[in-house]
Amino acid sequence: MKKMPENEAAVLAPAKVNLYLHVVGKRPDGYHLLDSLFVFADCGDVVRVFPSDRLTLEITGPFSAGLPVSQDNTVLKAARALARAADVPAAARIVLEKNLPVASGIGGGSSDAAAVLKALLKLWNLSLPEPELYALALSLGADVPACLKGKAVGVSGIGEILTEAPSLPELSAVLVNPNRPVSTPAVFKKRSGGFSAPEPIAETPADVRAFIGELKRRRNDLTAAAEALEPSVSEVLTALEACPGCSLARMSGSGGTCFGIFEKESDRRACVDRLCRKYPFWWVQSAKLL
Ligand code: C5P
Repeated sequence: MKKMPENEAAVLAPAKVNLYLHVVGKRPDGYHLLDSLFVFADCGDVVRVFPSDRLTLEITGPFSAGLPVSQDNTVLKAARALARAADVPAAARIVLEKNLPVASGIGGGSSDAAAVLKALLKLWNLSLPEPELYALALSLGADVPACLKGKAVGVSGIGEILTEAPSLPELSAVLVNPNRPVSTPAVFKKRSGGFSAPEPIAETPADVRAFIGELKRRRNDLTAAAEALEPSVSEVLTALEACPGCSLARMSGSGGTCFGIFEKESDRRACVDRLCRKYPFWWVQSAKLL
């Protein structure tokens, strides 16, 4: 195991998964009102911060090529916003290990921003009042407050209203991305049709099967729009549904990552093997969702 250098604060930026996502309305400014259940995977990007006299960002990891370092990178925006709010110099060396596909509906950018806030609060020895920290998170992106929470949470409004989720069973999943980026604003723009009713899960399900049953009654209202923009999303869903033992297959966020839920570990492993063999260019990842 790698030894952490002194002063290093390493924070996992876990993949977020929308177990369901209903679009329930639209604000006059064009943002959509959502009702969603966010959970987090046991895999993700890693953010490391080190003392420095200026603000720098390095991106490493298997998906670093998809994310050029630019001043409008969410990670740098998060660091500058926190420094401004706390009235401290924006000075840190940030290293982002990009393990999640970029523009993929599992919150890479949002989770990275939340992780940078957590890491820099520690490095800079700061504490901000919670409402201020969550408002700052929202200013960085609609999903950032939920990612800051980092555990199963009901999300409404455009992402700013967080409701504690009931105690939920852990789910065993396979995450699959066709390695094609999908633009969130384009998906929201493409969506057509009416709005769904909010259907938050308020009660603890009796067991995994009951939980999956609840999720089956809900959907991701952005699926058709994402499939229209990126047809490989339908291919991913079809491939997951065809895996023996897959109890539920859905898209996360605005896509194109989809997840399959498995009740039997052997079925989950067989799904990973099968998809890796059949689709060597896809990103296929086992994950526990909590
Ligand atoms: O907030 P974030 O930068 O993640 O959102 C990207 C884009 O997705 C927004 O500019 C908006 O077009 C769309 N969006 C939306 N409703 C939401 C979240 C995002 O319409 N609740």
